[in-house]
Amino acid sequence: MTDTPSPLVRALLAHPVLAAPAYPPPDHGPTDPAELFTAWLLDALAAGAPDAQVLTLSTVDAEGRPDARVLVLRDVELPAAAWHFWTEPDSPKARQLAARPDAALTAYWPAQGRQVRLRGPVRPSPGCTTPSPALHCYALHAAQAEFWQASPDRHHLRRRHTRTAGGWTDTGWTDTRLPG
Ligand SMILES: Cc1cc2nc3c(=O)[nH]c(=O)nc-3n(C[C@H](O)[C@H](O)[C@H](O)COP(=O)(O)O)c2cc1C
Repeated sequence: MTDTPSPLVRALLAHPVLAAPAYPPPDHGPTDPAELFTAWLLDALAAGAPDAQVLTLSTVDAEGRPDARVLVLRDVELPAAAWHFWTEPDSPKARQLAARPDAALTAYWPAQGRQVRLRGPVRPSPGCTTPSPALHCYALHAAQAEFWQASPDRHHLRRRHTRTAGGWTDTGWTDTRLPG
C-alpha cells in the first residue's frame, strides 16, 4: 500500500521554486555590499517587483529565542553600510534590540532569483528622520553579507562579504547547488 500525498504535498510539488527566469550571472558589479544591495534593490524596483523593499528582520529575545517579522526598508547608507528601518520604540522588536542589539535582515526577490542576507549590530539612528515621533529610526550596520543569485543550470552563485578593520573581504562569486 502506498501513501497518497496530501493535497498540500501535491500542491507544493506542482508549484516549483525559482520558476521565474533567472537574471544573468553577475559577472561584475560593485564589490561594496551596500552598493551591490542598492543595485539589486533598484533592479527589483525597476522591474516592478511587489514590495521589493519589504525585508525580514530577525532578532532574538533576552532568552536567546529567535523572532522574525517583515518591515519596510527606508534607506541604505553609503559608505557606512547601514540599513535603515522605522519602528515603535516600545514594540517587542525594539525591546529585543535594546537587550540584544544584533539582528539579521533578509531580502528575497523571486523574479530576479536573488536573495541577500545581512547580519550585524543594530543601533538607534537619531539622524534619520521619521514621519512621526512615535516611530524611531534604527540602523543595521552590516558585519556580514551574503548575495545569492539563482542560475538556470542550478549552479547558483553565492558571494560573501565580511567587514574587517580595513574594509570588506569578499569571497567573489562561488558556485553552489541547492538540493532537489
Ligand atoms: C508589508 C509589511 C510592512 C511592514 N512594515 C513595518 C515597518 O516598517 N515597521 C514596523 O515596525 N512594522 C512593520 N510591519 C509590521 C511588522 O511585521 C510586525 O508585525 C510589527 O512591527 C510588530 O513586530 P514586533 O512584535 O516584533 O515588534 C509591516 C508588516 C507588513 C506585512
